[in-house]
Amino acid sequence: HLGRLSDALLGNALAAQRTGIVGGVIMSTVAVIGAQWGDEGKGKVVDYLAERARFVVRYQGGNNAGHTLVVNGEKTILHLVPSGILVDGVTNVVGDGTVIDPWVLLGELEGLEARGAMRAPESGQLVIGRRAAIVAPYHVALDKAREQRLGKGKIGTTGRGIGPAYEDVAARRAIRVADLLDRERLSTRLDRVLDEKNALLSWLQVETFEKEDLIERLMAVGARLAPWIDDAGKRVRQGIADGHDVVFEGAQGAMLDVLHGTYPYVTSSQTTTGGIASGAGTHPRQLDAVVGVVKAYTTRVGAGPFPTELHDHFGQSLREKGQEFGSTTGRPRRCGWLDISQLRYAHQLNGFTSLALTKLDVLTGLESIQICVGYLVDGERWDIMPTDSDLMDRAEPITIELAGWDEDVREASTFDELPENAKAYINRIQSELGVPVGLISVGPGRHETIRHQDLWATA
Ligand code: GDP
Ligand code: IMO
Ligand code: MG
Repeated sequence: HLGRLSDALLGNALAAQRTGIVGGVIMSTVAVIGAQWGDEGKGKVVDYLAERARFVVRYQGGNNAGHTLVVNGEKTILHLVPSGILVDGVTNVVGDGTVIDPWVLLGELEGLEARGAMRAPESGQLVIGRRAAIVAPYHVALDKAREQRLGKGKIGTTGRGIGPAYEDVAARRAIRVADLLDRERLSTRLDRVLDEKNALLSWLQVETFEKEDLIERLMAVGARLAPWIDDAGKRVRQGIADGHDVVFEGAQGAMLDVLHGTYPYVTSSQTTTGGIASGAGTHPRQLDAVVGVVKAYTTRVGAGPFPTELHDHFGQSLREKGQEFGSTTGRPRRCGWLDISQLRYAHQLNGFTSLALTKLDVLTGLESIQICVGYLVDGERWDIMPTDSDLMDRAEPITIELAGWDEDVREASTFDELPENAKAYINRIQSELGVPVGLISVGPGRHETIRHQDLWATA
């Protein structure tokens, strides 16, 4: 920021524009990224950051996400609506890189409306990207039928049609949001895709879909969403150009990235910072800060490698104390110790400028806490998790033990108020990763948050 300020003071308009100072105001963009396998507490962190932001932008994923906010004791679980929705004055963008189940989105908006959280569409509270692909009923049916067919080898998807919808994006046959506003175009688009889907669904021995019926349903839901549909990329670019602060809200987590995660046990989108520019319609140099959200232990929903998973009473107790049941599907989450080597990999993929450490309170009461610091694969030491499944199958975690604490941390409002052993745990994470812990979350509520360093800081 100092560099930016000096640019502005020098009156170098071009440099100022390049570095994000518009009209003398320093603006920033910050990404909130899940550093593990999802459910790290991204929703809470985004809500916290939204206090300063003008835009909160979802740029990938769909309603496989479940982001929880707890404000004044009231819990809100968001699947498609960005987590800035409860903060006044924020424009929440469901960006072009997301996949949208329009009925789920409408249901979420109705739920928020019933609680008085929605303002008139003209207020600019919500923008739904015209280019985002629709998750249609045949995608959901395909997702479920394929998982069923895989039987024991299934991925454990959320069953929300996410993978099949992204397939259609890449195959250039997706129905996009804007198509819901034009019956003729929708009909043409369905002609390109429906026969093939029905053939596949028949082969999988599940329900097929009828074109006219789909058109009616899609047009009806499109009409309901129409007031918010706009050019999302353009709105975000304009926001940045106007000098507004922007939060990019990641869904899922680094290890679920379609390319760099624990493939094939991953989701179908790019969950790392690399996906932001493309999903939001901005460019990579417009990203200033990257907050990696790290749960104080590790959880994972669905199948796939998880070397520090606990199958004993420790795992059970983390699940109960941490209420580790999926926000989207209600499935029990698999629980295990924190994995530093996994986080090192996530840092390499994302370039974290700070970390937000969540659910520290859940560790209270443990006599000792283990962390994994590396792996042995065929006698060779790996400091960074090897994600290829053949290596993962043979990887043995190297763990170290740290002392636990008994004192309640939920009331702490500064770092200094935390128990010594909790501070040591945080400091160890910080030094192992070489990234400052900027925020510590000690409970689900908005205010159960310790601000340790500025998350908007770029280094
Ligand atoms: P997200 O998908 O990353 O937004 O995370 P989820 O909302 O799926 O899961 C996180 C869960 O942990 C939610 O139920 C939150 O309310 C809860 N949570 C977030 N931070 C904390 C915390 O510091 N302590 C406790 N006990 N719960 C938290
Ligand atoms: P948030 O944003 C945790 C997991 C599923 C499954 C795999 C593929 O709340 O952190 P998909 O339905 O995407 O094809 O499933 O990815 N998964 C998540 N796990 N949190 C999420 O989102 C997830 N979204 C998908 O459990 O293993
Ligand atoms: Mg979640």
